[in-house]
Amino acid sequence: MAAAFLRSPRFTLFIVVVICGSLLVLAPPFSNRAAPFTLVDEGLASRLARSDKIYNATLRNRKELIKKYGPSPEDIALFPPDTPPRPPYTVWDFFPASYNCPHELVRIGALGDGGKWVCGLSRVVKKPGCVVYSIVISLGINHESSFEADILKNTDDCRIWGYDFSVRKFGPQIPILRWHRTYFKPYALGGQDKHEATDDPKMYTLNTLMKQNGHTHIDILKIDIEGWEFDTLTALIQPYVDSGTPLPFGQLQLEVHLWSKNFPQFLKWWEILESAGLRPFMTEPNLVYLNYNPNRMSDLAEYSFLNTKGENVFTHNPHQISLESGVGALSE
Ligand SMILES: *[C@@H]1O[C@H](CO)[C@@H](O)[C@H](O)[C@H]1NC(C)=O
Repeated sequence: MAAAFLRSPRFTLFIVVVICGSLLVLAPPFSNRAAPFTLVDEGLASRLARSDKIYNATLRNRKELIKKYGPSPEDIALFPPDTPPRPPYTVWDFFPASYNCPHELVRIGALGDGGKWVCGLSRVVKKPGCVVYSIVISLGINHESSFEADILKNTDDCRIWGYDFSVRKFGPQIPILRWHRTYFKPYALGGQDKHEATDDPKMYTLNTLMKQNGHTHIDILKIDIEGWEFDTLTALIQPYVDSGTPLPFGQLQLEVHLWSKNFPQFLKWWEILESAGLRPFMTEPNLVYLNYNPNRMSDLAEYSFLNTKGENVFTHNPHQISLESGVGALSE
């Protein structure tokens, strides 16, 4: 065969022309590629637009998947049983964290339990008056603050307001020399205020906590409240959706506990988050308990969301942020 090419240069030339011609026809600009893959990076706004396009495709695909295995949400199981017809999915397949973080994506805090994925920590490294809230029910088991310690260590001026009614202070990971940038109260986050002398635990809405601290905006909000996230976040977010006001935080790290929920309930709650502009950019199932007990469902997952509505440091460059937004002074 090689000899044939050598002996017949005209035949070789013919083959080369045919191959190049087919490549030209099959490759862009002639092929019909989906938009996200052809969008050029022209800065933050174009990266956000690209993420938005990619996420829109996820929204359409979710509808298709529901139709395929449902056809209605009521027909979908969170975790289908191991009996025929064994549809090959779990609930998490319907909710991929497909919104691309438009900055660097870093896991902050300890590897394994305690660490969380953050989008664009670099955006608050030098931000004066950077505000972080960490709202947890640790139940005294995993009392650790490696995430908070890492935020303090890697930023100039982030301060952390911590709330956990089950303990008295942050975990031992935060060194004494950074204690002055932390504030702790043994309160619970609730859908409504309940903090009379007789109330135990004392429950505060996010709005009330922010008012107490004089805050109009939170840069990073971390919530792990053991299953209460459904009622609490619905109560927190719904008024913002109804009034069309942007949520008062830039990003949200949330652990989801799918205990005593069904698919339609979870879908409805998730869509409230989405209609408020929250977009998941990273997720991790918590497989630790599944490993201990193979009969258990993989019902715990970490999600990190970017708030794509309103103005915040992760979606806007400093000069684009208006003073009235309350997001605060910024340095580039
Ligand atoms: C994504 O969908 C929303 C709602 O349909 C639409 O407003 C938005 O323009 C879409 N984004 C892109 C980049 O196509």
